[in-house]
Parts: sequence; C-alpha cells; structure tokens
Amino acid sequence: MISWARNFLLASPLTISLSYAVTVDIPVSVPSGAPMASGSLFSLSIEQDRWLDWAGNTSRNEFFFNTLDNLIQITGEPPQIRIGADSGGSYKFQRGATGDAQLVFPDPSATVPYPEADKIVVGNAYYEAARFLPRNTHIIWGVNFGENNITAAVLEAQAIRKAFDSPAVKDAGVILDFVEIGNEANVYTRNRLRSPDFNISEYVKEWSSFAQNVSTAAGISSSSHVKFWGGSFADSLFGTAGFSTQNMLSNGILDSPEGKLITTAFSLENDGLLQDLMAKSTIRSNLTIFSPDITAVKNQGLDYVLGETNNCPLHGVPGVSNVAGAALWALDYALFARQIGVTRVFFHQGIGYRYNMIQPLTLTRSALDASNLSTPLPPHIQPPYYAAVIAAEAIGNGGNTQIIELTVNSTKVAGYGFFTGGRIARAVFINSEAFLATTAERTSVHIDLSFDSEGPTSMDIKRLAIEHADDVSGLTWGGVSYETDDARPSGEETIETVDISDGFDISATEVVMLSFR
Ligand SMILES: *[C@@H]1O[C@H](CO)[C@@H](O)[C@H](O)[C@H]1NC(C)=O
Ligand SMILES: *[C@@H]1O[C@H](CO)[C@@H](O)[C@H](O)[C@H]1NC(C)=O
Ligand SMILES: *[C@@H]1O[C@H](CO)[C@@H](O)[C@H](O)[C@H]1NC(C)=O
Ligand SMILES: *[C@@H]1O[C@H](CO)[C@@H](O)[C@H](O)[C@H]1NC(C)=O
Ligand SMILES: *[C@@H]1O[C@H](CO)[C@@H](O)[C@H](O)[C@H]1NC(C)=O
Ligand SMILES: *[C@@H]1O[C@H](CO)[C@@H](O)[C@H](O)[C@H]1NC(C)=O
Ligand SMILES: *[C@@H]1O[C@H](CO)[C@@H](O)[C@H](O)[C@H]1NC(C)=O
Repeated sequence: MISWARNFLLASPLTISLSYAVTVDIPVSVPSGAPMASGSLFSLSIEQDRWLDWAGNTSRNEFFFNTLDNLIQITGEPPQIRIGADSGGSYKFQRGATGDAQLVFPDPSATVPYPEADKIVVGNAYYEAARFLPRNTHIIWGVNFGENNITAAVLEAQAIRKAFDSPAVKDAGVILDFVEIGNEANVYTRNRLRSPDFNISEYVKEWSSFAQNVSTAAGISSSSHVKFWGGSFADSLFGTAGFSTQNMLSNGILDSPEGKLITTAFSLENDGLLQDLMAKSTIRSNLTIFSPDITAVKNQGLDYVLGETNNCPLHGVPGVSNVAGAALWALDYALFARQIGVTRVFFHQGIGYRYNMIQPLTLTRSALDASNLSTPLPPHIQPPYYAAVIAAEAIGNGGNTQIIELTVNSTKVAGYGFFTGGRIARAVFINSEAFLATTAERTSVHIDLSFDSEGPTSMDIKRLAIEHADDVSGLTWGGVSYETDDARPSGEETIETVDISDGFDISATEVVMLSFR
C-alpha cells in the first residue's frame, strides 16, 4: 500500500488526496458482556538475571520507580511485575550469598548485545529488593525447574516466602500473588535440560511433584493468598511434544491438590518488518491463535494472561522493536488481547533489550549492535512506554471501566470504546499505516462518529504525535514528553475540543484519544 502510494505519486503529475472517510458507530451504553479493563492491563515481565538493576540493590532505582509511579498516578494501580524468564533455567539461591547477584554472562554479540546470564546465584537480598517497588505492586516470581533439582527450587521458594514475610517488604506494601515453576519447559530438550523424549505428560508429572514441595516451602495452600501460575510454553514452538495449555489441562495438571492451587494459566508469545508488526490484521491473527487455549482455561474457571510477551525474537529487532511504530503495536495488541479474554499482558523487559518500554540503567554498550558507546546512554523510556500511558488514561482510575472494540471499516484503523459506569466515556483510535522517514506522502483518515442514542455533544482530542514510525524518540502525548532525565512528564498539555459532529482526522502512524463530554 505504501509503495503503491509512493509509486503512484511519482508516476502522477496530479496532486491527489489519499484521505478517505469512515463513520464509526458507538453505543452510548455498554454492550452486555464487555470485559472490564484493569489499570494494570499493561504489566511487566522482567528478566530475572538483572532484577537488582531494575528494582535497586541498596536503594531504589528512582528512574524505574518513576516510570511505574507515572502510571499509578493515572490509574491508581501499579503495573504487576513478573520476575522470571530464560535466565531462570540456571538460577540458584545460596544461603549467605551477599545482596549482590553473582552473574556469569556469555559474550555479547551484534545480534544479542545484552545476552541473558547463564549462571545466577542470589541471596536473600535479591528477593527483598521487592521493597523498592511502589506500594500495592503485585508480584509473580519464578523458581527453577529447568535444572530438575527440587532442593534448589525449595530453597528459592523459602527465600521468596521469607522476603515477602519480612517487615521491610510488608511495610512497603508489596504483595506476592503467584509462584511460577519453571519457564518455557518446551525448550528444555533443545537446551539439554531434559532428554529428547520429554513431553507434556512427563511435564505434568514433574510439575506436580515439584509443586508439592514448592507449595509447602512457599506457603501456598487452598487458603493462602499466594497461588501458582501454570503454563509457560514458548509459542514459537507450539505443538512440539504436545506442549500447549490445552494439553497441559487434558493431561490432568489441575487434578492434584497442588494443581488446584493454579488460578492463572499463561503463555508466552514472541516473533519482523515494522509495517508487518504494526498491521491491524497481524495483531489480530497473532492473538486469535490463543483463542482455543483461552477458552480451555476459562472453562476451568481460571484467569488467562500473556505472561511474557513482546514483539520479536532476540530481544527485539533494531528499527522495529525500539521505534515509534512499536508503540502503536503495543497499544493495539494489549487492547485487542483484552477483547479475546486475556486479563493482563506482561510485556517482557531486560537490561538493554531492544523492545523495552523502559531502559532503567545507563548503558555503555549499544543495544542495537553491541558497539561501545562513546557517550553512555542514561536511563530512558522507549516509544512503547507511551502505549502504557495512553492505555492508562483510556482506562482511567475508577476501577469500573469496560472496553469494546469498535467496528472501523478500515484495514489500517482500529478503535476501542471505554465505558465508565456503563456509559461511553472515551475512545481510542490507532492508525497503524506505517509512515516512515522514507514515505513520500502521509495519508489520513477522516472519522465521523455516530451514536445509537442521545450521546455526547463535544469531545476533547489528545494525539500521540509521531514524526515517523521509525523514529526512536521525539514522541509527545497531548504535547507532553516522557523522554526526560527522571521519566517524569514534561511540557504543556495540548487538547483540542471539538463538536462531535465535526469528527476528526487521524494520520498514518498516529493515536487519537477522544474524551466525551
Ligand atoms: C549491589 O550492591 C553491592 C554493594 O554495594 C555492589 O557491590 C554491587 O555491585 C551492586 N550490584 C548491583 C547489581 O547493582
Ligand atoms: C519433598 O517432599 C517430600 C514429601 O514430603 C519429602 O520427602 C522431600 O524431602 C522433599 N524434598 C525437598 C528437597 O524438600
Ligand atoms: C541441587 O541444588 C542444591 C542447592 O542449590 C545443591 O546443593 C546440589 O548440589 C544440587 N544438586 C545437583 C545434583 O546439582
Ligand atoms: C511421554 O513420555 C513418556 C516417558 O518417556 C512416555 O511413556 C509417554 O508415552 C509419552 N507420551 C506421549 C503422549 O508421547
Ligand atoms: C504473526 O503474524 C505474522 C504475519 O501473519 C506471522 O509472520 C508471524 O509468524 C505471526 N507470529 C506468531 C507468533 O504467530
Ligand atoms: C569496548 O570497550 C571495552 C573496554 O573499554 C573493550 O574491552 C572492548 O574490546 C570494546 N569493544 C568493542 C566492540 O569495541
Ligand atoms: C467498507 O468500505 C468498503 C471500501 O471503502 C466499502 O466498499 C464497503 O461497503 C464498506 N462496508 C461497510 C459495511 O460500510
């Protein structure tokens, strides 16, 4: 489409308008069955090797704290935090280990400038760093299953329990919700952590045996607040040896007493061209593949979350994952995920990963190609952070927001309606046509709104201003930038107020939020 437009323009002596118009129907009252959207719909999954760099080691990481607090100030609710992932295959708790985590890293390469540690040894202070998070943060913590050493998993579970029972963490008001046993068990064979015949039924058997000991060690029972997250398979390998959430259920994982302590099942998702990534249709097809799993999980009365998701393999692709277009991807992805029954989306983050929303630490090595940086790069947010801010504003802080996808007759523009107290309050539109630095003409779409009964008469419009989809910085949300030294917003807010009957224009690579009056 883009190249067509460009070629056409080059070939044509005429100035043509590439704009077109659509009318979007919006119900004034919330349709029945519309899901609630939690203020923590955007949550974080953190690669556990460098957890102390995120949270803080001897004092809190102010930059990271501020990125979370900005969202809390909008929704009243902290993003949930899951600490786990790949480096979890080799992590050990050692009694008496000092606060500092002992990490051994493979050599960085241009493809993976910030590899995951292959060995991690931690002490109690590692878990106690949870106290540096904002009050009321809910945590999911992983224990090691990859090494198949039940003693190691038990020691970790005990240390997790000890940390969350400690006065420091209790006073900080940080809450453990779930323990996760292992990560991406379907790649254990490839990583030589299990024999080639390891399969889903063997997994369920081993999980259940680990869960007996881990539940005792972590204090997980039918009456405890803390429960298990079940699942955790990498979906790029969907189907290998039967690893899927559905097969996990049909192999009876919920049958044992410990299995009954699973209240949330989750899966991981991964997978590059920027336009492909952002495309409305890709986002929908990449998410609807989970629908059978979601149905199976919901039928058991469990919650379903995307526990470790982001947009490309190898911690993201330069020019795709770390750019403005990825903000549009993240926003549409999380909002659409909610439509198909996903309760919460944990966007995966690691120090120096390209797809991060947040880089919480000064980097001395390029996250794009591992070259040494002549000027260290201070902590900063990346474009997808704006998606979290926009979702937070659209959801708001009442705790009673329901969300529906609006039908927009366009392959480029997606729309969502947000209802508070049953009535339409806001709408978000995302135009995911990639307007790149090399694109000749920026198209736009005019949208008129049609309410099914007496609706609002005027609206405030806020825009996510993006110069080009492939820009790494310089975005503003309603005139405000989060690209500051301390992650706090800066700049004068700009809002247009117009009559509903005027409708609005949305350019290629733009997000618009309407607040109805
Ligand atoms: C944690 O603090 C210790 C003691 O001050 C220090 O040696 C270590 O480098 C710190 N580790 C991290 C990850 O910041
Ligand atoms: C696991 O639990 C079993 C049964 O209670 C017990 O015999 C065994 O010692 C435990 N293992 C560890 C490592 O705690
Ligand atoms: C299992 O883990 C424990 C605790 O970290 C360790 O002492 C033991 O050597 C491990 N066993 C094996 C077989 O690696
Ligand atoms: C899974 O592996 C076990 C042990 O190797 C084997 O007995 C069983 O038949 C396998 N099940 C399937 C469904 O392949
Ligand atoms: C997402 O969709 C794109 C385009 O259809 C496809 O190439 C990619 O493999 C999908 N990713 C996943 C994880 O399904
Ligand atoms: C980066 O700098 C370090 C230390 O100054 C040096 O050892 C390393 O070889 C440099 N790496 C590259 C890719 O230039
Ligand atoms: C959607 O748009 C297409 C092309 O602009 C048009 O042909 C079609 O009639 C529209 N469909 C609806 C339901 O409005």
